[in-house]
Amino acid sequence: MTSPRSVFRDEAILLQEYLPHQIPHREAQLKKLELYFQGVAQNASKASQTVMITGPVGSGKTMIAKKLLLESLPKKATLYGNLVKAVHVNCRIDRTLQAIMVKALKSLGQNYPTRGYSFEELLTALVEELRSNRTHLIIAFDEVDSLVLSDPSSLYTITRLREMAPGSQVLSSLLISKTTDYLKKVDLSTLSSLQWNEIQLESYPSEQLADILASRAEAFSDGALDDDVIQLAADIAGTYGDARYALDLVWRAGKLADDSESPRVLSEHIRSAKASLPPQLRKEELSYLTTHQKVLLMAISALLKKGDSTYVTIGEVEKSYSALCEGKGMTAYRHTQVWSDVNELARKGIIEAQLSGKGMRGRTTMIGLSLVSAKELMGELEKGMVADVRA
Ligand SMILES: Nc1ncnc2c1ncn2[C@@H]1O[C@H](COP(=O)(O)OP(=O)(O)O)[C@@H](O)[C@H]1O
Ligand SMILES: [Mg+2]
Repeated sequence: MTSPRSVFRDEAILLQEYLPHQIPHREAQLKKLELYFQGVAQNASKASQTVMITGPVGSGKTMIAKKLLLESLPKKATLYGNLVKAVHVNCRIDRTLQAIMVKALKSLGQNYPTRGYSFEELLTALVEELRSNRTHLIIAFDEVDSLVLSDPSSLYTITRLREMAPGSQVLSSLLISKTTDYLKKVDLSTLSSLQWNEIQLESYPSEQLADILASRAEAFSDGALDDDVIQLAADIAGTYGDARYALDLVWRAGKLADDSESPRVLSEHIRSAKASLPPQLRKEELSYLTTHQKVLLMAISALLKKGDSTYVTIGEVEKSYSALCEGKGMTAYRHTQVWSDVNELARKGIIEAQLSGKGMRGRTTMIGLSLVSAKELMGELEKGMVADVRA
């Protein structure tokens, strides 16, 4: 993938989805999280746990959740002869409890359609599946605040999941959100029935961001990323305390270095990267996208809106994107470029791209929207596109 002259050795190490081996300044928090689930690992059919992880954007919430769920917990459970599995859902993408149940079932190899079954039916199927396989499933409800805000009773349901399988425990949950503000909207009886443990993550100061960047420096070729450049990126990102922003900054700076055929990332690349990369998605961020990326986003949001679905396949997106290009008198990009634009949009957090399970379609990339509704995005893009044509 990477050209021989690149400053990158393996840029995938800088991707948002990459699960790092080293997690500087989060070891203690992961330990604490593991301890909360110790009982489940040891005694999976008797114990159930609800843990909340809160912290600002880029403070490592999703990362420590995945370290627990994908690495340490299943392993530890095996040592005790137990089967513990986990499914991670982003509630901005899977917006209803039904959709989440469908995803949980799918993680166990059970394919259910997104429509046609009630939440209760799906939950019953899930519990039966878990019991018959003697499996304990942890559901990580990431960005759970968006689910609870749109459906306040969902929190009550989540807290009652453990009561679903009388006699044995098969479900635990991890609730991940920026703050606990959404709890203010929840009625008192639900709140008082909640017995959870909370892990609070703080935003990272610059010195910690520097350690994090250094721990991911293997993404770069030897000597391509100097300490003073890391320091500059950490200082800039320190304003936000956001590790994702810090990593994006050095990734983008690396791209700029490659563009200018520089063998090293220079401070100037970091500064230019800063100018082109807003820390979180704001509406203005759409104006930074290339025309092709905007058309691609139009295609994605139109498909999602039309099908009222959470995900569309990359094949569908490409087809619709080509048709849109034709309509606008533009030459559509070929597959590789479309692919790289999809990655770019995912990196910015505007879309979510993930591999489908081994369903009917075989494995393909599924694309959803992570931050805004399809309708809202289309409205914004349409405004922008009109401006583009005029310009
Ligand atoms: N302590 C850390 N060490 C290494 N990488 C980290 C650390 N904290 C966060 N990251 C990385 O920063 C990015 C953002 O972290 P993430 O867990 O997605 O943040 P959050 O979910 O809190 O918004 C991810 O790529 C993650 O791997
Ligand atoms: Mg997250």
